[in-house]
Amino acid sequence: MKIRAAVLRESGKARPYVNSLPLSIEEVELDPPQRGEVLVQIKAAGLCHSDLVAINGERPKPMPIVIGHEAAGIVSDVGPGVAGVDVGDHVIPAYVASCGHCDMCREGRPALCRPATAANLAGTLMDGTMRLHRNGQRIHHHSGVAAFSEYAVISQNALVRIDPEISFEQAALFGCAVLTGVGAVVNTAKVAPGQSAAIVGLGGVGLSALLAAVASGAGQIVAVDINEAKLKIARQLGAHETFNANLENCVEKIRAVTHGGVHFAFETAGVPSALDLAYRVTRRGGTTVAAGMPGPDASITLSHLSLAAEERTIKGSYMGSCVPSRDIPRYIGLYQDHKLPIDRLTSHQIEFGELNGAFDRMADGEALRQILIL
Ligand SMILES: NC(=O)c1ccc[n+]([C@@H]2O[C@H](COP(=O)([O-])OP(=O)(O)OC[C@H]3O[C@@H](n4cnc5c(N)ncnc54)[C@H](O)[C@@H]3O)[C@@H](O)[C@H]2O)c1
Ligand SMILES: [Zn+2]
Ligand SMILES: [Zn+2]
Repeated sequence: MKIRAAVLRESGKARPYVNSLPLSIEEVELDPPQRGEVLVQIKAAGLCHSDLVAINGERPKPMPIVIGHEAAGIVSDVGPGVAGVDVGDHVIPAYVASCGHCDMCREGRPALCRPATAANLAGTLMDGTMRLHRNGQRIHHHSGVAAFSEYAVISQNALVRIDPEISFEQAALFGCAVLTGVGAVVNTAKVAPGQSAAIVGLGGVGLSALLAAVASGAGQIVAVDINEAKLKIARQLGAHETFNANLENCVEKIRAVTHGGVHFAFETAGVPSALDLAYRVTRRGGTTVAAGMPGPDASITLSHLSLAAEERTIKGSYMGSCVPSRDIPRYIGLYQDHKLPIDRLTSHQIEFGELNGAFDRMADGEALRQILIL
C-alpha cells in the first residue's frame, strides 16, 4: 500500500533543519505484514532525543530510514500466525521487539533481547528484511517501529494492547519517554519511599523519571538541567530543589543540600558531563543510573577509589529495564489514577509538515515532548 512517511536519507545536515529539511515527507510503499507481523495505523508519535541523534548523526543509522519509535495506533491488519492482537485493538509498540527465546528474554530482560537488538541496529524487522521501499530502494525501519508514518508493519512481539479509553496522544508517550524514565526509577533503581533522588536532564525521559520519583514517595528530589525553563517545570511537577548544571560549584551545592549526596542519581541528558555530575552527587553506598544515550565514543572517567571505598554502584538502564506487556498497562493505570500526570509532559502537537522545525526546537531545548498527530 502507498503511505506517507518521514524519510531520513542523510544525517548531519546543517541547522536549522527547517531550511536543510533532513526529513522529507514522501509517499512510500509498505508491504503487507508477514508471519508474526501486524499492520498498525499510527495515530500519534512522540519526538524523542533518540530520533534527533539519528538526524544529527551522533548515533548513525542505516539510510534511508523512516524514523520515530514512540507511538500509539490501531491494528488494521494481521499477518499469518498472529495471536494476542486483533484488528481494531489500540496498541503501543515497544522499540525492542523481543524474541522470547534468547538468553536475555529467558532471563526476563526483554529490553536486552539479542535478535531484536541486532535487527534494530540493522534497521530491519526481526526477520532481517524491510517492508518499506520506494522506486525499488529499500527503506529501513527505526527500532522496528518507524513511527513517523501513516502506517507501520511491526512485529507482534513488540505490541502491547492498551485500554482504548486513553487518548492516542497521551498513549504514545508510554512507548518511550514514560517506559524509559519511569522504568529507570521503579525497575532499574527500585527507589524506596523516603530515599533521595537526583534527575540530571529534564526532557521527556527525565521528567518521566521525576514523576516516578514523586509517585514512589522519594524523600528529597533534586532536578538538574542547563535550561531554566525546565527547572521551573520540574518544581511544578514535584522537585524539591532545582539546580542549573552550569552553576559554579553545582556538585558541591547539591551535595550540601542533600547532606552528602542522593541515594539515586539518574542521568537522562545523554551527555557525558551529565553522567559525571550524576556520579559526583551520588552519596556513599548510593547508585548512579545512566539512561541517556550519547554517541558510541562518549565516555567519562571516574574515581576508581570512590567506586570501591564508598561501595558505589553505576547501572545502565535501557528501555527502563522493562517488560513491556507488564509495565505499559501498569504505568497507564497510574496515569489514569492521577499518580503519573504525564499529560504535563507535552508542549506541542504537530503535523507532518512541521517535523523538521520541531527537531530544531528539541535541539534548542525549547520544547517538552512534541507529538506528531496523524
Ligand atoms: N536508555 C533508554 O532506553 C533511552 C530511551 C529514550 C531516550 N534515551 C536517551 O535519553 C536522553 C534524553 O532523551 P529525551 O528525549 O528526554 O531528550 P530531550 O532532548 O527532550 O531532553 C534532554 C534534556 O537534557 C538537558 N541537558 C543537556 N545537557 C545537559 C547537562 N549537561 N546537564 C543537565 N541537563 C542537560 C537538556 O536541556 C534537555 O532538557 C537522550 O540521550 C536519549 O537518546 C534513552
Ligand atoms: Zn526514545
Ligand atoms: Zn530475545
